[in-house]
Amino acid sequence: MDNDRPVVGIVGAGRAGTAFARVLQAAGVDTDLCSTRPPKALRHHVKIYAPGAQAVWPEQIAERTLRHGPGVVILAVPQEELDEVDPETVNGTVLIDATNTWQSEPLPGWLQAAVDEQLPTSRAIAGRFGGARTVKALNHLSHQQIEEAAAYQAPLAQRYAAAVATDDDEARARVMGLLVRAGFDPVSIGSLDAGRLMEPGGPLFGRLLRRADILQHVR
Ligand SMILES: NC(=O)c1ccc[n+]([C@@H]2O[C@H](COP(=O)([O-])OP(=O)(O)OC[C@H]3O[C@@H](n4cnc5c(N)ncnc54)[C@H](OP(=O)(O)O)[C@@H]3O)[C@@H](O)[C@H]2O)c1
Repeated sequence: MDNDRPVVGIVGAGRAGTAFARVLQAAGVDTDLCSTRPPKALRHHVKIYAPGAQAVWPEQIAERTLRHGPGVVILAVPQEELDEVDPETVNGTVLIDATNTWQSEPLPGWLQAAVDEQLPTSRAIAGRFGGARTVKALNHLSHQQIEEAAAYQAPLAQRYAAAVATDDDEARARVMGLLVRAGFDPVSIGSLDAGRLMEPGGPLFGRLLRRADILQHVR
């Protein structure tokens, strides 16, 4: 491990979490991954699916990214499991909400309430993880598309776009900087409410898009 490399924390080491880790590792960003398993039990899985990444305890997930920068943690846990994620684990960080709502998933009450009120789920996540600053990003591409799209050596104009929605301008800038480094062309689509466009059923979901394709949906 190169001590000059920035570090990003990732909560959830499944298909999405490990895809984010592979893309970031390739682009020179170290990643720490945690799951329900202790680091010792997660290590072999991480070695196979996210070579170079580190398995850590949830309690450690914010620490290295806050110390080395950029102070960003990606949330990549199924929404039905979110009651089991201690909000304190991401305190002080910029939290990328990469999660999606699936009709088949039983949701925690606080998240179901947002769905019932037809609010974007990232608003509920921002409330739940109130010690972090929430940015909706990286949820609208599948794990295969994320790897296909990321091209850190390509000029910005030739890259696939990644949408970003948040109410916090400083957090937005930090996430967009990270996405540029990871190989995407980040496109700000507005506040957390605009994040609806990125959710399942929305026009940005599940499609590899360029900047202009995204901007035509932004008011
Ligand atoms: N798959 C995709 O293509 C994709 C792309 C973008 C976004 N997403 C979204 O990302 C989220 C995760 O999807 P996925 O496909 O990666 O799911 P997945 O393959 O089932 O992996 C889920 C991961 O979350 C971990 N986890 C569960 N509870 C946890 C907890 N309390 N604390 C920490 N980690 C916990 C699991 O750990 P254990 O193995 O230890 O149980 C597992 O590593 C979903 O909301 C999904 O919609 C998915």
